[in-house]
Amino acid sequence: LSRLAILASGNGSNMQAIADACSDGTIPARITVIGSNRPGAGVLERARRAGIPQVVVDHRDYATRDAFDRAMLAELEPHAPDLVVLAGFMRILTPLFIASFRGRLLNIHPSLLPKYPGLKTHARALAAGDREHGATVHFVTDELDGGPPVLQARVPIIPDDNADTLAARVLELEHRIYPQAISWWVKGRLRLTAGEVTLDGKTMPATGIP
Ligand code: GAR
Repeated sequence: LSRLAILASGNGSNMQAIADACSDGTIPARITVIGSNRPGAGVLERARRAGIPQVVVDHRDYATRDAFDRAMLAELEPHAPDLVVLAGFMRILTPLFIASFRGRLLNIHPSLLPKYPGLKTHARALAAGDREHGATVHFVTDELDGGPPVLQARVPIIPDDNADTLAARVLELEHRIYPQAISWWVKGRLRLTAGEVTLDGKTMPATGIP
């Protein structure tokens, strides 16, 4: 079985969806460690209940991003992850960390990238008067939220939406596309080669709900 490390800062609903997909065999992998930068994060309670080892590297204890990344790398290393999955991990990683997992580092971002990299994506889509919004799974490169996309899910924006209702609707789809993308990677079907995403050897279209 492939070994997954998941990094998360928040509630961990995406981590839960991935853990469930590992348990039911949809993803033929095992989560060997969950890492967080927030001691009180909900994801840690989920990890405890699921019996998954956890490590906390509190970013407030480190003077620089590099120092934090080195500490997190050192914590992950004994768990020997094949793939590192960012699931609501709210720290910007340095090139040092990213280079350690080139082609083996996925993120999910709550917007239809390249629209709205960064924070407050739901409010920004609403403020712009967009008619649709969504989420993107992508390989992580040095460019923030700018790595090659793997899979997107779209939702319509409806008249009474606020940032919370919209976020909830997007999150439901995140829970479908992230396990899908991870299972492709674990099965050796999804690859990042020379900056290009391929699925079964063919250049990956970046859109479509599984
Ligand atoms: C998700 O919506 C994820 O896309 C987003 O944080 C949320 C985490 O929810 N990630 C980012 O904003 C990354 N910059 P969860 O903790 O319930 O999985």
